[in-house]
Amino acid sequence: MSGTLATQSVGVPDGAAGDRVLEVDDLVVEFPAKGGGTVHAVSGISFHLEEGETLGILGESGCGKSSAGRAIMQLPSPTSGSVRLNDVELVGHSGRSLRSKRARMQMIFQDPVSSLNPRRKVKDLVAEGARIWGRKVTEERVRELLLAVGLDPDSVWERRPHELSGGQCQRVCIARALMLDPQVLICDEPVSSLDVSVQAQILNLLEDTKERYRLSMIFIAHDLAVVKNISDRIMVMYLGRVCEVIPADRLAEHALHPYTKLLLESVPEAHLPDAELDVDDVGVTNAELPRRWIPPAAAASGLGARWRPRCARARRRR
Ligand SMILES: Nc1ncnc2c1ncn2[C@@H]1O[C@H](COP(=O)(O)OP(=O)(O)OP(=O)(O)O)[C@@H](O)[C@H]1O
Ligand SMILES: [Mg+2]
Repeated sequence: MSGTLATQSVGVPDGAAGDRVLEVDDLVVEFPAKGGGTVHAVSGISFHLEEGETLGILGESGCGKSSAGRAIMQLPSPTSGSVRLNDVELVGHSGRSLRSKRARMQMIFQDPVSSLNPRRKVKDLVAEGARIWGRKVTEERVRELLLAVGLDPDSVWERRPHELSGGQCQRVCIARALMLDPQVLICDEPVSSLDVSVQAQILNLLEDTKERYRLSMIFIAHDLAVVKNISDRIMVMYLGRVCEVIPADRLAEHALHPYTKLLLESVPEAHLPDAELDVDDVGVTNAELPRRWIPPAAAASGLGARWRPRCARARRRR
């Protein structure tokens, strides 16, 4: 492969044996770029989620974590690839057919305040999803879920989102998701917009909720410490691709991919080894590499691993 650089290839270990509730194959998400061209947000990622496990998705801003999460939910459908929930394909369905196939998968988002309809009251926000389905929702059930997420039903019942704190709004979002009796919960940076003091409370709530309602969870975040604590396995992403999937308890000792190691060093820019690097293809000096941002569209072009422009182990293959 003359003229290209490549990193080591990294295996993707399987999780512990168990039932796979979700299987994602060769997921591709692309957007039209401003001024023409294509944004390659997610470029053919494959992974699975086992029953009862939490899979963390870790990576820096713009690497495609939310695009992947939304594509799994079909919000919108991916450009290509397969998403199977309990062996039922979701890609290619829309409307009522999709909603019924996806009913047991719910998602909560980074900004809980703006993900709630500002005009609705808490009592309606929690019931909303189930009512769309034409299900009868009792007041008792709404109260039970509010209590389960640590809210006092009487004091929040008639309130609207702007009358609640960020943490309370996230609790409402979790109650809304639980109303539909989910099996899989996708959490997209559920604590990153919250005060540090509230983050731990919401993380504890998510862990308790997972146990109590026997959920399987995908937990998206860019904070390694948060992901490591809450996850059974961690999938590390870089520029739309998977670097590696590794059990959380093996992360510190057994990470294989240089990008994962860089994340572990926590001050990434300062810790690239001084290895000799052939940089012909990227046109920058070794010293500039760690700080140079390679936009996804640019990185997607050409051959070799996407990590190569920042990789101290990249070599030209002769
Ligand atoms: N609707 C869209 N239209 C065009 N480009 C998009 C769209 N949504 C995401 N992108 C681009 O796709 C890439 C991946 O974005 P995404 O939001 O999935 O990343 P992320 O890992 O979730 O980042 P963050 O940690 O900042 O939330 C980015 O380059 C982003 O600008
Ligand atoms: Mg995101």
